[in-house]
Amino acid sequence: MRPRILIARAIFPEVIDKLAQHFDVTSNQDDVLWTPVQLMAQLQGMQGVFTTGSERIDATVLAACPTLKICANMAVGYNNFDLEAMSAAGVLGTNAPDVLTETTADFGFALLMATARRLTESEHFLRAGLWARWRYDMFTGADIHGATLGILGMGRIGQGIARRGAHGFGMKVIYHNRSRLDAATEAQCQASYVSKEELLRTADHLVLVLPYSASSHHAIGAAELAQMKPTATLVNIARGGIVDDAALAAALRNRTIAAAGLDVFEGEPRVHPDLLTVPNVVLTPHIASATVPTRLAMAHLAADNLIGYLLHHKPLTPLNPAVL
Ligand code: DGY
Repeated sequence: MRPRILIARAIFPEVIDKLAQHFDVTSNQDDVLWTPVQLMAQLQGMQGVFTTGSERIDATVLAACPTLKICANMAVGYNNFDLEAMSAAGVLGTNAPDVLTETTADFGFALLMATARRLTESEHFLRAGLWARWRYDMFTGADIHGATLGILGMGRIGQGIARRGAHGFGMKVIYHNRSRLDAATEAQCQASYVSKEELLRTADHLVLVLPYSASSHHAIGAAELAQMKPTATLVNIARGGIVDDAALAAALRNRTIAAAGLDVFEGEPRVHPDLLTVPNVVLTPHIASATVPTRLAMAHLAADNLIGYLLHHKPLTPLNPAVL
């Protein structure tokens, strides 16, 4: 009998076709947002599930779905997985690293530039018919070139942003990470390791690229924002919950920092209402990896993990390989 898998969200038809060559597939092309109870009902009798990062797989789901063997996330982040519970239940988790690194780093830079140069604020002004004449101080922002770029979280995407800043824009790059990079990687990124305090104090632009976990929850809150320069910009392309969004909205309103660019939000797709009313923030709906080739590559990698594990016991990017 062919293994049964569930594709929990709408996905490229060609990836469904590929999976259907190997599995009995149930897909959710209507993109219904299932509650946890509905997800558990859909998972009955399934050996694998293709998730997109928004479906929570925890001890309750695992206990209710004893046939499940693998959860393949079409995302590099996997904070929707309780990996400990999955390991305890003998369920493999996989993610989709590497294929999105450069695209996400491109977007981090785009959001940084849009934020520092006040792109959306000035466009709203123009669209509202408010542009009557040129003025010397109209929408003056902060320079990117030559500025100090701070990066919190220096994995593959952080390194991609560092390379763009150092090599493309002549920026001085500083970073803070759980562990320091080796000397060769630091040299390639032209990045210097500093304490979190120094990062906050000296960065002109601070980009967050760290994974979300209990220890990174509200890594940037009121106290951290108060340490930043009043001219600084903050960019979050990592995960909602790393920034205390209420504290950030207050800091933007009070000009504790100059501006923020946010692609991710606490409790998204809901956005803290205070963020919607401050002008000095650029808001995007979690699209950092959203190019067609990259989203396709992410989907194919998740599919290949399902095929690799369920058919050959060889997943490509396992998160808890001890299960193997
Ligand atoms: C990821 O891969 O973790 C992204 O946030 C999802 O697009």
